[in-house]
Amino acid sequence: MRTIAVIGAGQMGTGIAQTVAANGMAVMLADIDLARAEAGKANVEKALVKLMGRGKIEASEAEALLARITPVADYTPFAEADLIIEAATEREEIKNAIFDAAGKVLHADSILSSNTSSIPITRMANHSPDPARFIGLHFFNPVPVMGLIEVIPGLATAQATTDRVTAFARGLGKEVVLSQDEPGFVVNRILLPMINEAVFLLGQGTAGIEDIDKGCRLGLNHPMGPLQLADFVGLDTCLDIINVLYRTTRDSKYRPAPLLVKYVEAGWLGRKSGRGFYDYTGESPVPTR
Ligand code: CAA
Repeated sequence: MRTIAVIGAGQMGTGIAQTVAANGMAVMLADIDLARAEAGKANVEKALVKLMGRGKIEASEAEALLARITPVADYTPFAEADLIIEAATEREEIKNAIFDAAGKVLHADSILSSNTSSIPITRMANHSPDPARFIGLHFFNPVPVMGLIEVIPGLATAQATTDRVTAFARGLGKEVVLSQDEPGFVVNRILLPMINEAVFLLGQGTAGIEDIDKGCRLGLNHPMGPLQLADFVGLDTCLDIINVLYRTTRDSKYRPAPLLVKYVEAGWLGRKSGRGFYDYTGESPVPTR
């Protein structure tokens, strides 16, 4: 694959664009308008400046990487793309509208994919022009650092599509886990109940934020505790995913913790809003309870 299109210039979309460009491919980056796509590219530049400061990348390499990312105003140029990766907000109606629009320009040999964290691939494939060339391609945050991509074929996905995206993922230097199209796939099926349970523990006063996180960092050797990780992922995204698990399985073990719902209602969404379980407005994060 030589040319990749990424839809969504947020945390995940820009991480994907950076990683793809770092591996020598051309990336077209779109969002709801050109300004947002350009802001996404500017965020990649900021990440590269940090890496240069730490001696991890040469200036010439960073410049070449950035030159391979082209922000675009609409999907028309995506007719040139070998693979389109949707990495927009985790809402099914938003993603479906994107597939309807991107499907109109999709080249006859190209693949349409979704970076969804949990929404069924088989269902969303109905919004693509050819479900045989539709697949889940789930990256982890921060994309340039995390070593895994989940590949999720839907019921109608052709084996050739699975083989091509698996080769693409490995070409990015990532390991691949193949998952059936079940709620939450593999990793989020395990991660989200853990995060949700941590919020239940906090809500019922079993332990405070710092002790819950310390328990998992030191007791399980996780790099971040579950509440810190929830803030990192975004509490709205966590709630969206646990709700998908709850609604699709109808199993009460996935009901969202009431405190998680309250935080999202308050607009306390984690790092991106400046406050979640920790306050991020100062030098270093401070627990809020
Ligand atoms: N591009 C390239 N490299 C980058 C980078 C970027 N944008 N940002 C950071 N790095 C590199 C750094 O240079 C550093 O490299 P070295 O180890 O070689 O020095 C390394 O990544 C670690 O970065 P930092 O030193 O800044 O930070 P850290 O050591 O505190 O680690 C972390 C940060 C990698 C995020 C670590 O805390 C971690 O692994 N946390 C857990 C992350 C996780 O679980 N992610 C999955 C979330 S779930 C998800 O994404 C799926 C979903 O659907 C919800």
